[in-house]
Amino acid sequence: MRTGTRALVIGPYVTRAGSGHEAAGAVRDPLARLDEAVGLARAIDLIIVQAINLTLAAIRPATYLGSGKVEELAGVIKAEEIALVVMDCALSPVQQRNLERAWGAKVIDRTGLILEIFGRRARTREGALQVELAHLTYQKSRLVRSWTHLERQRGGFGFLGGPGETQIETDRRLIQERMTRIERDLGQVKRTRSLHRESRRRVPYPIIALVGYTNAGKSTLFNRLTAAEVRAEDLLFATLDPTARAIALPHGAKAILSDTVGFISDLPTMLVAAFRATLEDVIEADVLLHVRDVSHGDTEAQASDVQGILRDLGIDPADGHRLIEVWNKADLLSPDERTRLANLADRRPPELRPVIVSATSGEGLDRLLAAIELRVAKDRKTYRVLLDPTAGDVLNWLYEETEVLDRRLDEEGRTVLAVRLAEEKAPRLLRRCPGARRVR
Ligand code: GTP
Repeated sequence: MRTGTRALVIGPYVTRAGSGHEAAGAVRDPLARLDEAVGLARAIDLIIVQAINLTLAAIRPATYLGSGKVEELAGVIKAEEIALVVMDCALSPVQQRNLERAWGAKVIDRTGLILEIFGRRARTREGALQVELAHLTYQKSRLVRSWTHLERQRGGFGFLGGPGETQIETDRRLIQERMTRIERDLGQVKRTRSLHRESRRRVPYPIIALVGYTNAGKSTLFNRLTAAEVRAEDLLFATLDPTARAIALPHGAKAILSDTVGFISDLPTMLVAAFRATLEDVIEADVLLHVRDVSHGDTEAQASDVQGILRDLGIDPADGHRLIEVWNKADLLSPDERTRLANLADRRPPELRPVIVSATSGEGLDRLLAAIELRVAKDRKTYRVLLDPTAGDVLNWLYEETEVLDRRLDEEGRTVLAVRLAEEKAPRLLRRCPGARRVR
């Protein structure tokens, strides 16, 4: 999908009476759902020309929408020169194809949109493989008899050819082969994953990961907190992906802040494994910031979704030593609402107290950094190390594995260092430098 494509987002939501399936998700307000879909579409740099909320009494098997609606929308699509229509629902392959024909535009559904986002954001090898696997499963289900030029564009693997039964059979076989290969690779990746964890653990700084619902403000907060350029060893950052950067904590310690893909409501089952794989960073993180848009009407439902997934990942959302709730978008609250939330926050015990911030105005970010520092400092200790001039290899080891806070020479030409490291690494330090003394 090209960046800057003119797109129309349609939220065709079925009323409670309309369908048993949709009724389960009906707790969410349709406008909020449409907003979320627009936010997702923006995440892949589409130009959203218009967003339309439709209330349907029933789903039509051929085109999802009624024929009158399809025609009416065809007019809008033509007039606005829309190249892509995002339908925030699950379309059958036939519905998708019929709508593409009727509208002369490419049509994707919610699964297609989310796949596109995951594809752009997957960072670990496992993530990329899981997303590709989900994509192939999706494509395979979409191989239908009449193969249009639009289908070919959607491909991306270069083998999707012209129409006809034989071609579909070939495509199906190629997709199946590719899926088998990915599954084998995934097995391999999983086996070596513990090794990666080990190397990740060698990063001398604590890792802070942002999690939260889509549109909660994670990226805005990330940009705000990392705006002050922090100098860090180039080599280290060459091994990190672009969504991780160094930040400075109030007392000079450094940490790595890592942005993650946002959580999404009603995640299609086909995508759950792919989504989890994109969250691997979260499992590794020392501190998690759960960013919440507290100005959003569905903020509680969103928070419990996020907490549920964290629990599935083996992270206890009530572990205040590791997780900080960040109540974002405080600037959008009315004075009454703000007081209510401040009181609510104050009633929680200190280690579970959320930090109220506004990523756009910068309000509360100093308190947030202090809260991060408190958690990071808890399990990081500072040692004083004395090295002979001949101990070059130990010095290298210290730079690779610990945070060197201070380094100078004493009168006898020995190097005196203050280093900080995670508590679990202390035994290794003491093995290398038996004379190391804990100072803090
Ligand atoms: P995903 O990438 O979809 O996961 O979203 P995200 O959590 O990274 O959200 P993002 O930072 O993209 O912010 C979403 C929208 O909220 C943007 O339009 C931001 O400008 C806006 N926003 C973020 N933080 C604040 C805030 O503190 N106040 C206000 N008023 N708007 C905010």
